[in-house]
Amino acid sequence: MASDKGLIARRLLGIEMSGIRKMFELAGKDSVNMGLGEPDFEPAPHVQDALDKAVRGGKNHYGPTLGLPELRAAVAHRIRSYRKEQVSAQNIIITAGATQALMTLNHTFVDHGDEVLVPDPGFVLYPVQARLCGAFPIPYSLTAENKYQPDLDEIQAKLSPRTKLILVNTPSNPTGACMDKATVRGICEIAEDAGVIVVADEVYDFLSYDAPHQSFLSHMDNVIWVNSFSKTYAMTGWRLGCIATKREYVSAIEKMHYYTVACPPTPFQWAGVAALEGPQDHAEGMFREFKKRRDRITSRIRKMRGMKMVKPGGAFYAFPKYDFDIESEIWALELAKRGLICSPGSAFGALGEGHLRFSYAQPVAKIDAGMDILEEMCNQLPLKD
Ligand SMILES: Cc1ncc(COP(=O)(O)O)c(C=O)c1O
Repeated sequence: MASDKGLIARRLLGIEMSGIRKMFELAGKDSVNMGLGEPDFEPAPHVQDALDKAVRGGKNHYGPTLGLPELRAAVAHRIRSYRKEQVSAQNIIITAGATQALMTLNHTFVDHGDEVLVPDPGFVLYPVQARLCGAFPIPYSLTAENKYQPDLDEIQAKLSPRTKLILVNTPSNPTGACMDKATVRGICEIAEDAGVIVVADEVYDFLSYDAPHQSFLSHMDNVIWVNSFSKTYAMTGWRLGCIATKREYVSAIEKMHYYTVACPPTPFQWAGVAALEGPQDHAEGMFREFKKRRDRITSRIRKMRGMKMVKPGGAFYAFPKYDFDIESEIWALELAKRGLICSPGSAFGALGEGHLRFSYAQPVAKIDAGMDILEEMCNQLPLKD
């Protein structure tokens, strides 16, 4: 059989499968899996019923490219708590998850040779999606010393005439850090002065434990906001997300969206309407549970030899920094052999090295079992000189 070498598009050369997925594939049946970022809950019963009703009620056909008007209106309504004026259904685009929303935004705004500022460490998609568009991801640093907050001077200094987008994520995957109001405002002002767009990934906005979430949406003119139903409503496999943007951008995004997915999935959108318009006690219950787990994992890790951790203010990730003489990928592999799956910090960028990421979307007993495995290794590893 002829080899297919040379047939794969060059844009994929040098792009590796995500380091998070690799660890996931190593997970044995009895491992404690703190590798993947998804709630360990099922969607609320009334949301499952709405999906069932939609499928059985004939809502199985193509719908509008921008999404069902009912769902666009429900998202716009939810957003009003972040921004009182100017948000209506006309500002909303429904997508197949935040993943596709982010890719479609890259495809819509980013040309070959452009630059996209991305957080380091940051969610694995950001630099790769920019590269798939022929652009250069330019990392800006998030460090433990700075409590993983972006440094405004650094962002300013990294802008160039080729910068198109600044990617921001709060609460953050992988650090769990939440941005404060001054940082949010500062980034928007820098972007406004430079004439670039801020793409704000706020898929964990409902998980801000210690202070109200500060949304980039309060500065919508140069902000495109991305959110998802995956985490808030525990429907990662249903692939539903959304974009809020000023009206001037909607038709360009719509065109790209059409040629990518034609339309978001119809029955899941009806479930999305039920999720947004129905009782929120399911999401509130998850919030309380995740907060308890955040406190538990923070207190466990902070007591371990060689480990330091900034208390994560949001999302469901612990991102400790360690003082051991071992690369994060090697350590994560060793932990996997002992039955604990986590993600190496290096999967999230060069500055993620020296960290491990643990998703605490697991029951407390599992978190404790995982932390026992981690603690045992911490007691054995040699410290850096
Ligand atoms: C920061 C961040 N953005 C986007 C996504 C993707 O979400 P979705 O399931 O909606 O594609 C994730 C998933 O882990 C994430 O952590």
